[in-house]
Amino acid sequence: MTKIAVYPGSFDPVTNGHISIIKRALRVFDHLIVAVSQSDPKKPFFTIEERCDFIKSLDLKNVIVKPFDGLLVNFCKTENVQVMVRGLRAVSDFDYEFQLALANRRMDRDIETIFLMTDYKYSYLSSSLIKDMAKFKGNIEGLVPVHVNKALQERFS
Ligand code: COA
Repeated sequence: MTKIAVYPGSFDPVTNGHISIIKRALRVFDHLIVAVSQSDPKKPFFTIEERCDFIKSLDLKNVIVKPFDGLLVNFCKTENVQVMVRGLRAVSDFDYEFQLALANRRMDRDIETIFLMTDYKYSYLSSSLIKDMAKFKGNIEGLVPVHVNKALQERFS
């Protein structure tokens, strides 16, 4: 049986921390759907198309990138997927992740959330941090893919 999971996030923009989770999830699952949230409350910096394209450009085998809006459990149901993957960076992520996993479980008992520890190299990383660093001309080489770095530099120039 093909094992498939959903890896959701706002990916505004995707970082090497996210990519590390994607690659490691692919050791467990045959296919991964990277679900990019429209995430309006967060007022995304990049459009949904840009955020999806950044991930698609990575050309990762067995990865499908799809935008989603509304509840994640509904997206999973539509895609007929029962497992979602989340990354844990630090203890501080736990409370939120616990809440999210339980809320999702409350809405759909068939959905399981599995957690992968973020690579320690990226454990302090977030998309907001990357945007701040790029905005003030900090060096983000090695923290995001080259094409994302370029897009950030263009946007802030
Ligand atoms: N490496 C680097 N950064 C990481 C990371 C990793 N491994 N894991 C998480 N992050 C960063 C993200 O980039 C993000 O940074 P930002 O806040 O600066 O943008 C931050 O950590 C939080 O990430 P995450 O917890 O994944 O939040 P998100 O906003 O990217 O995604 C959704 C959250 C989309 C999964 C969640 O809001 C959702 O499911 N929304 C749909 C509605 C719904 O169903 N809600 C739940 C039930 S009510």
